[in-house]
Amino acid sequence: MELKGRNLLEPLDFSVTEMDWLFDEAERMIASPESYTGVCNGKLLATLFYEPSTRTRFSFEAAMLRLGGQIIGFSEPSSSSVSKGESIADTIRTVECYADIAVIRHPKEGSALVAARSAGIPVINAGDGGHHHPTQTLTDLLTIRLEKGIFNNITVGLCGDLKFGRTVHSLIRALTRYSDVRFVLVSPKELCVPEYVRDEIKKSGAEFEETSDLREALPKLDVLYMTRVQKERFFNEEDYIRLKDSYIIDGAKLKDAKKSLMILHPLPRVNEIAAEVDSDPRAFYFKQARNGMYVRMALLKALLGR
Ligand code: NCD
Repeated sequence: MELKGRNLLEPLDFSVTEMDWLFDEAERMIASPESYTGVCNGKLLATLFYEPSTRTRFSFEAAMLRLGGQIIGFSEPSSSSVSKGESIADTIRTVECYADIAVIRHPKEGSALVAARSAGIPVINAGDGGHHHPTQTLTDLLTIRLEKGIFNNITVGLCGDLKFGRTVHSLIRALTRYSDVRFVLVSPKELCVPEYVRDEIKKSGAEFEETSDLREALPKLDVLYMTRVQKERFFNEEDYIRLKDSYIIDGAKLKDAKKSLMILHPLPRVNEIAAEVDSDPRAFYFKQARNGMYVRMALLKALLGR
């Protein structure tokens, strides 16, 4: 599979076959991580995080270190020349003088694309504003695949902030390529999916419904993808406070759900999943965070052509 030198900016940048190959590789890494120590010896990853992150940055850094590579980067744009007004294009042109591959997270939609256009090294989008977050989608899909084996014939509920949630937009886009995936979009009216996402679902021919009633939707679901209300993308605090606790899943609500339900969450969670759910066998969100490191190992190895 030739992924060497490519970018990953949005979830359809790789074909279904290429994604399957990556998931196979990630599964081999889970089974035998020690066989991959040293495959990225001498390679350097730059992590350019203009927005806060825990899992995404750490999992990329851990992935590169576990492959024997090294890392440079910033997690506070105030500590780099960005604070002096440097453009993304100039930053990436400089970074590529030192690093072999770059991961970028930025509050503005389209910023990873801007970086990729100026870069001679592979660029990975680790979240561009409320737009896309394709490596979270790799993580989500690998987690579903490890449990269910396939992506076909499943009903996926996405709940919470479907408007600003970039992980939601990316997961939907990726899943529209598989047959018989049904979507149940659960949100308050103000936080429903953007028009372009709804159009993508319609165009794919997938069945979908939009509702504000999680209780009613829950029994149908094979996967429940919970999300945090994206505080940092709100224009006013009052709206955030009014909407932030729209959905809280707890043990009592889960009584109506399938035994085989998978509860996913990209994390961080705020209040939307009660802590008591963590010990429920249907809670997959911490496993999902772990899978994120393996799929990023597979991705880095592939883009670096190792
Ligand atoms: C998500 C993100 O940054 O979009 N976090 C992550 O990468 N796991 C979700 C979120 O911040 O709510």
